[in-house]
Amino acid sequence: MDELIEKAARIILDSKLTIALTGAGISVESGIPDFRSKGGLWDRFDPEEYATIWAFREDPEKVWQMLKEMEETVDSARPNESHLGLGELERMGLLKSVITQNVDNLHQEGGSRDVIEYHGNSRSLVCLQCGKRYDYQEKKGEYPPRCVCTKILKPNVVFFGEGIPVEAMTRSSQLASTCQALLIVGTSAVVSPFNILPRQAKQAGSKIIEINLERTVLTDHITDIFLQGKASEKVSQVVSAVKQLREA
Ligand code: OAD
Repeated sequence: MDELIEKAARIILDSKLTIALTGAGISVESGIPDFRSKGGLWDRFDPEEYATIWAFREDPEKVWQMLKEMEETVDSARPNESHLGLGELERMGLLKSVITQNVDNLHQEGGSRDVIEYHGNSRSLVCLQCGKRYDYQEKKGEYPPRCVCTKILKPNVVFFGEGIPVEAMTRSSQLASTCQALLIVGTSAVVSPFNILPRQAKQAGSKIIEINLERTVLTDHITDIFLQGKASEKVSQVVSAVKQLREA
């Protein structure tokens, strides 16, 4: 067994409270490009023009050009080994919650039950005028989707300039400041306030395991065990090691 994988597995087995923090990198192998890698979404769409709440209010039709592409990609995506692995860890009683920045629903589809959606979920739509909500299925194929009041609907995801859903923020903060092990998968950890959570956990004495294709702003100062590689490969290796050590 690889030495670092074994260390990570032992941290999880010894921890009384383990949580996972995930970002777009965990869904790349499901066919959804991330934001900041080469060819990522922000390479093609300037977030200032397409991802702020002010941009949406000013020209929702334009923003829906990006949202349409995202929605079509997410629609055909299925959970990969890393989503399934986190779901399995939860069923084994070794992972309390997944806190994700992703809005693609793949953790839930991969078997995780306790998922905190820090940036909302693209599967519901809201009218900024009258407050009416819709399941995305009701408006499927309608671009841009409109409310009965005729206003263009916004997906229930957090745009830059909007607040984080209060319950997600409160629960995440409480979990980060009490966990003993933190598994971070596929995030560049540059977006605030999500990127405060690893620091909060570190300060509280948690061990930090990071899985990423490349080093991030966390790797040198926050991370204890850095597992460099594809999320699916590394998560699967950690889950197998946990099972092996538990049976030994
Ligand atoms: P980023 O695109 O910033 O970071 C994705 C990370 O995943 C990078 O560090 C990649 O190296 C890594 N990565 C890519 N493919 C991977 C793979 N197969 N296995 C492991 N790692 C991989 O995405 P996030 O950190 O999620 O917010 O971005 C955070 C937020 O920025 C998003 O939620 C979104 C965006 O703007 C809003 O729109 C509010």
